[in-house]
Amino acid sequence: MLHLAAKPHLFNIARGAADPPHSRYCLTMRVLVITGAGVSAESGIPTFRGKDGYWRNWDPAKLATPTAFQSDPNLVWEWYRERRKRIRAAQPNPAHEAIARLAAAAGEFLLVTQNVDDLHARARWEGTHLSPEKMVQIHGDIFVTRCSGCDFGRRDLREDEKEVPKCPDCGSLMRPGVVWFGEQLDLREIERVEGYLHQGPCDAVIVAGTTALFGYIVEWAVRAVGESGRLIEVNPEETPLSQFATEQIREPAGVALPGLVTSIVSDTSR
Ligand code: OAD
Ligand code: ZN
Repeated sequence: MLHLAAKPHLFNIARGAADPPHSRYCLTMRVLVITGAGVSAESGIPTFRGKDGYWRNWDPAKLATPTAFQSDPNLVWEWYRERRKRIRAAQPNPAHEAIARLAAAAGEFLLVTQNVDDLHARARWEGTHLSPEKMVQIHGDIFVTRCSGCDFGRRDLREDEKEVPKCPDCGSLMRPGVVWFGEQLDLREIERVEGYLHQGPCDAVIVAGTTALFGYIVEWAVRAVGESGRLIEVNPEETPLSQFATEQIREPAGVALPGLVTSIVSDTSR
């Protein structure tokens, strides 16, 4: 169900002949989008808390921990290798594409994703894609392999080897470059989010495909939205964020986001 309370006056538009072709509409609009696993679900990537979230009877909340890695690094790597493989084979869906479109159209834009996959980065809209400075992967990047003992890290885009990687610098075990349960978020990434929030209130905040169980997700969304801004939740289920949303769209992200983004872009282009 779609509850739209469009406030076109918020979204002033400056259409310029000199605009690059991918941003026919240059909205003087600040947008924050926050995504979670639900946005990649329609690309075939299982969510964490959904029915396909368990792997060989393992709860991801138990596997994605420093304790699991210490006690069985092979098992943890096997799980991550399978996830990397699935992600490499997956394609961005209409939700990722709609977000890339909004990023190209909005005057100021930041995506904060909890997803460690690269589907946001790979999504295209009219040939353009989301630039790295417009995206924060707050829970890390599954394709990064980093040392558990020193600062060494690299990005592994090709098929993984079948054993636990060792650091070429110090010999310690390497681990996936993601944030595990019980670990701190990367301070530099927090700074990027906080920096964006400090620059001013957002006209539109879209929170899609997340259970919003982490306090900072709800807090960032609520803090970001300006007094007359829209806080739009896209999720088939209710979440702790729902009570703060000005609009709730209870549909899959791949169904809802293309229309929502079109309505935002065309409302502001009249
Ligand atoms: P979850 O697996 O907790 O939640 C997925 C959410 O997406 C649920 O609220 C579903 O209702 C919703 N959903 C499912 N299919 C959808 C669809 N097609 N369109 C829109 N929504 C859909 O995933 P996250 O909220 O991302 O953290 O989980 C947050 C974090 O917890 C993850 O980043 C990960 C996890 O454990 C770490 O690993 C640190
Ligand atoms: Zn090392």
